Amino acid sequence: MKYQISIAALAAAGIVSAGPVLSKRALTDIDILNYALTLEHLEATFYRQGLANYTQAQFVAAGFPDPFYANLQEIAYDETTHVSFLTKALGTAATAECIYTFPSTDPKSFVALAGVLEGVGVSAYLGAAASIAMPDYLTAAGSILTVEARHSAYIRSSQAQSPFPSPFDAPLSPNSVYTLAAPFISSCPSTNPALPVKAFPTLTLATAGPIASGTEITLMTPGYDIRSGDPEGKIYAAFVTVTGGVFAQATKIEGGFTVVVPKGVNGQVYVVLSGCAEGPVTDENVGAGPAILEITNPYPTMA
Ligand SMILES: *[C@@H]1O[C@H](CO)[C@@H](O)[C@H](O)[C@H]1NC(C)=O
Repeated sequence: MKYQISIAALAAAGIVSAGPVLSKRALTDIDILNYALTLEHLEATFYRQGLANYTQAQFVAAGFPDPFYANLQEIAYDETTHVSFLTKALGTAATAECIYTFPSTDPKSFVALAGVLEGVGVSAYLGAAASIAMPDYLTAAGSILTVEARHSAYIRSSQAQSPFPSPFDAPLSPNSVYTLAAPFISSCPSTNPALPVKAFPTLTLATAGPIASGTEITLMTPGYDIRSGDPEGKIYAAFVTVTGGVFAQATKIEGGFTVVVPKGVNGQVYVVLSGCAEGPVTDENVGAGPAILEITNPYPTMA
């Protein structure tokens, strides 16, 4: 088939690395497909567990009436199919399923986490797109991205969140996505290929209740590391957007920072700490994060 990936062809084209994985090297197409497969394994396992853990009646009782459960089964099927598609394409280079820990404990928290994971999936594919060398792989990844976006819209809508809260989705770098995914990954087979990604210091939202532009939020970070800093030592919260980010100065508190959410961001939003006061947000200027926020502004004005 057209999107069948031949490792031999990639090696001939010089884009499969022969040597050991180095953290600074550029991602090859094989890396990106394995990175996508890493996320698809996580999602597929998450839905498989959720469907095993909670019954249709429990979803209905939790406020997710039919055909929610049937749609959840469809989503689980899509994710499993993405896993088999990527696994088949990668052949012997394919990364295998890991052991995961999910914090969901009931249908409601399961659906909330499903929404977050689908949103991160969309941002992950979007952020990796520009690094894909082969046009056919880009089309294949795009055909998965659009489906993840529909999952995201459906799950959001099921929780009375806007299905399309912003005119643009935010791209996330592989390192940012890995930072968000790593807490769910307990252990992986030692035979899995090492991916050249690393997690940034964690950044967690410590503000309960609804958040809109103008809300002061608290972000906790045990080990932030500002490498590329403002000469005056100021720290900024960079809200990731496709056009480079929206920035707000952060105020240091014990163990973290406070920041007032700026205008121009809505829906599932990612925020990192940075020494830079303006965009673009790149891996070189992320000190901690991302943290995930759900911002609910009046739409379409985005406050
Ligand atoms: C399903 O239940 C098991 C056992 O309680 C739990 O460890 C796991 O995290 C749950 N998974 C999800 C996705 O809710």
